[in-house]
Amino acid sequence: MDRLKNKVSIVTGAADGIGLAISQSFAKEGAIVVMADINNEKCSREAKKIVKEGHQAVALACDVGKMNSVNQTVDYCLDKYGRVDVLVNNAAVSISGNIMEMSEEDWDYLMNINLKGVFRCIKACLPSMISNRNGSVINIASGQAHRSWNDWTAYATAKGGMISMTTQLAGQFGDMNIRFNTISPGAILTPMAEERIKTEGEDYVKGSEFQASMLRFGEPIEVALTAVFLASDESSFITGDDLKVDGGLTSLPRYM
Ligand SMILES: NC(=O)c1ccc[n+]([C@@H]2O[C@H](COP(=O)([O-])OP(=O)(O)OC[C@H]3O[C@@H](n4cnc5c(N)ncnc54)[C@H](O)[C@@H]3O)[C@@H](O)[C@H]2O)c1
Repeated sequence: MDRLKNKVSIVTGAADGIGLAISQSFAKEGAIVVMADINNEKCSREAKKIVKEGHQAVALACDVGKMNSVNQTVDYCLDKYGRVDVLVNNAAVSISGNIMEMSEEDWDYLMNINLKGVFRCIKACLPSMISNRNGSVINIASGQAHRSWNDWTAYATAKGGMISMTTQLAGQFGDMNIRFNTISPGAILTPMAEERIKTEGEDYVKGSEFQASMLRFGEPIEVALTAVFLASDESSFITGDDLKVDGGLTSLPRYM
């Protein structure tokens, strides 16, 4: 309890899956959680549940694909709370596709949300973090950035770009006490994963379970607790790092 007491934290893609688990875990640790999601209806329902449990959370409609929408979210935060302490860039869309068949429109759509959305949110939050000489930015990447999978070129490229952006900014802003880290989840059971199970069926389930040395999917809470650590002062000397929460998927791969 209170590991994040009154830390003003923006979580994008907070209505569901990993972003929701991060929001719930942050709130339980005393953070003021600004839950930003394009699905405002679900996000508002989830924020109300958190508040009902006695914690601090508010839902804001936010499309990370649009600069004005991101600015509105951050401006709300600054007007109401005076600062942003923690930013979790979690919102993403999942589009697979063979590079030979993938349209340029799909590529641009994915990059605009999964990669440029991260640029927008960081750009909007940095002035507050710089003036306070304090901040933790946590980017949710993916095991896909570390290994090769067929047909996931765009998604994996965006996540790889996010890891490089994290390294660049960690170097640039370290002396201002602003930390940048990524978390690379493996296969985690969320609505996004359920969508893949629908399209890829048992092959995806078996492949994901078998390749991770721990032989199972991860739970959103397992990613969320890692994000709590990176947001908290317990990780005060950790920056530019990538924490893999993947049951061994990328570091102990089991070859089939
Ligand atoms: N689930 C997995 O197995 C897995 C594995 C590795 C990495 N990840 C990453 O973890 C993060 C969360 O994944 P998840 O599985 O919880 O996804 P999810 O699809 O369950 O949830 C994503 C959330 O993002 C929101 N969102 C989508 N577009 C948005 C936009 N333009 N602006 C604001 N919000 C938007 C959605 O409404 C949704 O609430 C993503 O970055 C994903 O790439 C997931």
